[in-house]
Amino acid sequence: MTPPSNTTCRLAVRPEGLPTRETWNFSEHEVPEPGDGEVLVKVSHISLDPAMRGWIREGRSYIPPVQVGEVMRAIAAGEVVASNFPGIDVGDHVSGLLGVQEYAVANGHAVQKIDPSVAPIPTWLGALGMPGMTAYFGLLDIGKPKEGETVVVSGAAGAVGALVGQIAKLEGCRVVGIAGGPEKSRYVVEELGFDAAVDYKNDDVAAGLREHCPDGIDVYFDNVGGEILDAALAGLARHARVIICGAISQYNATEAVAGPANYLSLLVNHATMTGFVVSDYGARLAEGARAMGEWVAEGKIKTREDIVQGLDTFPETLNKLFSGENTGKLVLQVNGGG
Ligand SMILES: NC(=O)c1ccc[n+]([C@@H]2O[C@H](COP(=O)([O-])OP(=O)(O)OC[C@H]3O[C@@H](n4cnc5c(N)ncnc54)[C@H](OP(=O)(O)O)[C@@H]3O)[C@@H](O)[C@H]2O)c1
Repeated sequence: MTPPSNTTCRLAVRPEGLPTRETWNFSEHEVPEPGDGEVLVKVSHISLDPAMRGWIREGRSYIPPVQVGEVMRAIAAGEVVASNFPGIDVGDHVSGLLGVQEYAVANGHAVQKIDPSVAPIPTWLGALGMPGMTAYFGLLDIGKPKEGETVVVSGAAGAVGALVGQIAKLEGCRVVGIAGGPEKSRYVVEELGFDAAVDYKNDDVAAGLREHCPDGIDVYFDNVGGEILDAALAGLARHARVIICGAISQYNATEAVAGPANYLSLLVNHATMTGFVVSDYGARLAEGARAMGEWVAEGKIKTREDIVQGLDTFPETLNKLFSGENTGKLVLQVNGGG
């Protein structure tokens, strides 16, 4: 039976600073029909990612901005309820760029099959999905950590950071996380096995890094930018590798982003600083998915998702990323989940 309507969340206006409820427009539409080569997906879970803030900003980026009036772009997952694509059947589960809406039509080539019997759907949006691939390729391919080296990661209790730290431990590194608040600091050390944590909301980050990285930082995986990046640059070891994965502290800035004052540390320490986007690794996704899948299945990597109910909560739930109210991968459950 054709479902009655599709609630969509669209960009209403480009925000200045932190998005608000007025940034978004919820509207009801007919459930679309899939054309040739397309599938119709009943969305059950939507991934909320800091990158979404960048996607609604005008200007050149690694992907064109969402236009005002368009359904908000989002990675999401759900069950196929109609298919005109050979190889994907009704009842299969898929993930892809399905948007912030209850039903999505997508080209069959643009979605990936996921198996809820292997891992719950939210985990496919976290450790087994885009954040997992970001942590895996960013750390291993760009950071190239060696056994015995010191790896520091910011945003340490978040989707990407928690995985980066755990992968670095599996590589035999000493791992120091930077996170906001005592509970997140406890979590990364006691539950995820990091060697130490610096609580940037209560501690002096530079002093904490000096204490916990007495031989300097060999690999710094940066998720937050700003003053924390500067503190890490000041503590680099010789031949350090700095990975610029993200800069969430700057995403809602209404003024120009301040550059890192301590960049000459790169020169002094013969170090590198490299920006990367996970989509660069499209051709190697099978390798990353296999490795992360094995580590998760063997219990060597712990996964955690922070699941919030209801499409209508999207505006406030997205902002949890910027207030630090999420721990682990932030996911919105819709259509009753499944
Ligand atoms: N390059 C890529 O291909 C790629 C792909 C995926 C993600 N990313 C980037 O990776 C980073 C982490 O993404 P995620 O999905 O794993 O998000 P997340 O870490 O799960 O959530 C964001 C976290 O950022 C922290 N945060 C927010 N505002 C901050 C501030 N002003 N200063 C310091 N920390 C702040 C908060 O933790 P606290 O409570 O600790 O403050 C919050 O929980 C983001 O920058 C994202 O854009 C990049």
